[in-house]
Amino acid sequence: MPQNTSVNRRIVLSARPRAAPTAEDFRLEKDSVPKPGAGQVLLRTLYLSLDPYMRGRMSDGPSYAPPVAIGDVMVGGTVSRVEASRNVDFKDGELVLAYSGWQDYAVSDGTGLTTLYPEDPHPSRALGVLGMPGFTAYMGLLDIGRPVTGETVVVAAASGAVGSVVGQIAKIKGCTVVGIAGGQAKCRYVIDELGFDFCIDHHADNLTGRLAAACPKGIDVYFESVGGAVFDAVLPLLNTKARVPVCGLIAAYNTTELPPGPDRLGLLVGTLLRKRIRMQGFIIFDDYGPRWSEFAGAMVGWVQEDKVKVREDIVFGLENAPEAFIGLLQGKNFGKLVIQLAHE
Ligand SMILES: NC(=O)c1ccc[n+]([C@@H]2O[C@H](COP(=O)([O-])OP(=O)(O)OC[C@H]3O[C@@H](n4cnc5c(N)ncnc54)[C@H](OP(=O)(O)O)[C@@H]3O)[C@@H](O)[C@H]2O)c1
Repeated sequence: MPQNTSVNRRIVLSARPRAAPTAEDFRLEKDSVPKPGAGQVLLRTLYLSLDPYMRGRMSDGPSYAPPVAIGDVMVGGTVSRVEASRNVDFKDGELVLAYSGWQDYAVSDGTGLTTLYPEDPHPSRALGVLGMPGFTAYMGLLDIGRPVTGETVVVAAASGAVGSVVGQIAKIKGCTVVGIAGGQAKCRYVIDELGFDFCIDHHADNLTGRLAAACPKGIDVYFESVGGAVFDAVLPLLNTKARVPVCGLIAAYNTTELPPGPDRLGLLVGTLLRKRIRMQGFIIFDDYGPRWSEFAGAMVGWVQEDKVKVREDIVFGLENAPEAFIGLLQGKNFGKLVIQLAHE
């Protein structure tokens, strides 16, 4: 792992992908390390979070957030160390949650930085279970999904950063929890380690039939992160008054056209109407920002008590971020995907 402290390596967007991103859509550049001005801090990135939303930032289509400009550093949440502080609110050596993007160093005036507990033995978790993905799982499930003890909750992308937490919270709430994940290893982990009741491999045949068998009482809450064939299997199983938090649609992030086949909009809307289903999208910080402390209080306790278990997929080296991100969109990650750039 490079430890050169005089060069700032950064990965910029070199081209907008038309479908799935490729290595050519990214470019590694080198520059001198920036110097903090009065009131600023110099941050060294230790951990960089890779998240599916970054695919949206690579495109310039309609979105809830502006795209990354061609030639700009890819955006991303980071755990960073204050290397040099000229801001009275931050001390040299402190770890902060920042938004430095895909680069070794960044300068900040302190806006949006959150100091992490110095004694935290796992600072990278501030990018996962104790950060944006955990917050997304908590609010999406509890505020929109509203699970009730004894109900059946189905969770897409169940071994991932958000889904793994959704299912574990649903277990804490006394629900029967069925995960959907890609491959036997992920499914075994979801049941054996995370404590879900069932997990269905969406790569295997007859997804619809196997999901129906795992949900004999139908589905009361479906936490949607995927769309596509997974949602097709879920839709007929939704119960009257089911709730569907729409968190993401990762199966469609690399597509350029609507899928072929008959128009299924009537089926969807008709099902929502007949069964009085509530299906609601949300963007975590836009919709729930002020409720962060409620989430943090609950989640820190659950993690400390081992009621919510954590799996990180840590890849070493900034230069490996593009390949790891491309893999995230293909299900190659196993747990919360984090790039480690430097030692703590
Ligand atoms: N609304 C919000 O504010 C918000 C915030 C955070 C995240 N999200 C969304 O939440 C979802 C999960 O994010 P995450 O960070 O937890 O990622 P993640 O689950 O750690 O990683 C993505 C996973 O998606 C699955 N996947 C990828 N392509 C797929 C496909 N074509 N069909 C089915 N599954 C596919 C893969 O798991 P398998 O191998 O198991 O298929 C992959 O590992 C994403 O849709 C993301 O955009 C939304």
